Amino acid sequence: MEIGMLALLGKTVSLMENLGFMWIVHTGFELRLWERLFKEASKEQILAENSNWDSLLLDHWLEQARVQELIVFKHGNYKLSKMGKAIYDYRDYGLEAMYKEFALHWGPCFAKLPDLMRKEISQDQLDREMENELISRASKASEPFVWPLLRGKCEKDRWGNVLDVGCGEAVLLRRLVEEFPSLKGVGLEINPSVANRAAALTESYREQIRIVATDVFEFTDTLGAFDCCLLNNNIYYFSSEQRVKLLDLIMSLLVPGGQIGILTALRGVNASFQLFNTHIPQNLMSFFLSCHEGFDGLPLEKEMLDLLDQTGFTEVEAIPLPFKVSHYFFAKKPLV
Ligand SMILES: C[S@@+](CC[C@H](N)C(=O)[O-])C[C@H]1O[C@@H](n2cnc3c(N)ncnc32)[C@H](O)[C@@H]1O
Repeated sequence: MEIGMLALLGKTVSLMENLGFMWIVHTGFELRLWERLFKEASKEQILAENSNWDSLLLDHWLEQARVQELIVFKHGNYKLSKMGKAIYDYRDYGLEAMYKEFALHWGPCFAKLPDLMRKEISQDQLDREMENELISRASKASEPFVWPLLRGKCEKDRWGNVLDVGCGEAVLLRRLVEEFPSLKGVGLEINPSVANRAAALTESYREQIRIVATDVFEFTDTLGAFDCCLLNNNIYYFSSEQRVKLLDLIMSLLVPGGQIGILTALRGVNASFQLFNTHIPQNLMSFFLSCHEGFDGLPLEKEMLDLLDQTGFTEVEAIPLPFKVSHYFFAKKPLV
């Protein structure tokens, strides 16, 4: 057999394996199988508890989950493996939304690539579920990497008033006020259903957090009021021209010496320092976004640095998060 053919087969098999992993994980979330298999159970028990389920498909699910080492089979019973427990522990977190995003939305979008590239069909709008639900939840997956850095920055630079643009479910604002009780935060969110969730989730911090359901460009608050303005995981919502306008607006909202913090995955990161020696995931995310109306994909590091420079920010720091999953760019508004 030809070496090229073998390489292609290898890629195909690993694609199938990874797709299988995603489908199994996603289905396990939807059907709460990870939760159920935290305690051991036989297939018959699971079926008895879910009398409308398809027995053959459950059989396949259990078999796949076992060969993917997500569950173990012992004395006629199934139970989560270490990896399965990690998935169970992650329930309700960003990873679940990410799997759903990949399993349901990325595949169909990439299947249209040839037609999109030939411009034979027009770009899609981001699907409503992606827009309302998944994107804001999926960014929670980066919270364990982001939070320690943000906490350190806030402590060192003594932020008192923080503006979070495109705050999603206000995950980081909540963490900030829990850790720094005198801090006040404002979260802006353009998507009404996401803003409603953020408002409900910050209800008990009403004295400290205000959620405003608005497009950032319509936000008319006191200028020069914030020590820090965060733009987390959303620079890619803005076109190159809008990014300049946005940073100008943020500059006017900051106190002199105030900071902007932009968190974003990047295209074109040098792979050599990464733990996972690949830049494919970020590039694919960028590719996926670029297939949609109004999205320019992820920025390059140089584009971010140029943007901050062009809009007059100084003392720019580019901090890679662990595994280079994302970068945090911090910069200051000049004092005079
Ligand atoms: C990927 S989510 C990130 C949420 C949060 N910052 C985080 O890191 O978890 C991006 C959010 O930005 C919001 N957004 C996009 N454009 C916006 C705009 N012009 N004004 C306010 N919010 C916006 C989106 O609705 C979405 O909820």
